Amino acid sequence: MAPITYRSYLRLPELLDLLTPLSDAHDELLFIAIHQASEIWLKLCLHELRGARAMIAADTLSPAFKMMSRVARIQAQMIQSWEVLATMTPADYAAMRDRLGTSSGFQSDQYRLIEFLLGNKKAEALAVHADEPAVRAALAAELGRPSLYDEALRLLARRGFDLPAAVIDRNWSEPYAAHPAVTAAWASVYADTARWWDLYELAEKLVDLEYHVQLWRFGHLKTVERVIGFKIGTGGTAGVSYLAKVLEQGFFPELLQVRTAL
Ligand code: HEM
Repeated sequence: MAPITYRSYLRLPELLDLLTPLSDAHDELLFIAIHQASEIWLKLCLHELRGARAMIAADTLSPAFKMMSRVARIQAQMIQSWEVLATMTPADYAAMRDRLGTSSGFQSDQYRLIEFLLGNKKAEALAVHADEPAVRAALAAELGRPSLYDEALRLLARRGFDLPAAVIDRNWSEPYAAHPAVTAAWASVYADTARWWDLYELAEKLVDLEYHVQLWRFGHLKTVERVIGFKIGTGGTAGVSYLAKVLEQGFFPELLQVRTAL
């Protein structure tokens, strides 16, 4: 049997062969590299977030915390990558824009899976994948599962907080709507952190994830703005104004609301 080498274990020939520009534009290699690297990080984030959700559902919080911390560090890497992409000027981008056709990060199913997993349920996002049955089915399945936040709220209920069925036994495909009973439960956790230390830590880990998603979104928006200005996107949205609207979509509304009262 051939010895396992660095190249063979990591399947580097196949991996690096995937970074193949379609044009002669110098910056296309950067453009492909940053998107493919992002998708690799997203795959790891999905793995960790699914693991964390399962651990919360099983009342095993310590491993969940470890996974959530790792995701936040990956997010920091992804946020930093905007600095690299921002070295690409509008002229550099224009040199290869035509080769992108209608492709767009808007069609990233891994990104959408993460949004669903965190709790931003948008059934209409499935339409983008109408011609990809397996991708659409995976997204539909995730849409129908409790999110990380749903599992956190079910944990609060198991710990004795009085949460209504509309929160802990709802149609998981529907967007989550903030509920005053949830704000009250988190307020109790923050009011007595010594008693509820692990729930307090869970709340802070969730806030950390949302904070990093928002920084990523903002970095993306500002990078897009400096590269394409206010042109429409390759995916057909209004571009920067669409991305600004997305910034309004949070994940854990009561965890921000509760801070006002503390
Ligand atoms: C110069 C580079 C980039 C430009 C000009 C750009 C532009 C855009 C625009 C205009 C949109 C809105 C949808 C559309 O109409 O296409 C979008 C969405 C998106 N882009 Fe980018 N993008 C760039 C780089 C990246 C990179 C490196 C990633 C990393 C994966 C990425 C991921 C996404 C995702 C996930 C969305 C969907 C966001 C949502 O629906 O909330 N983009 N992009």
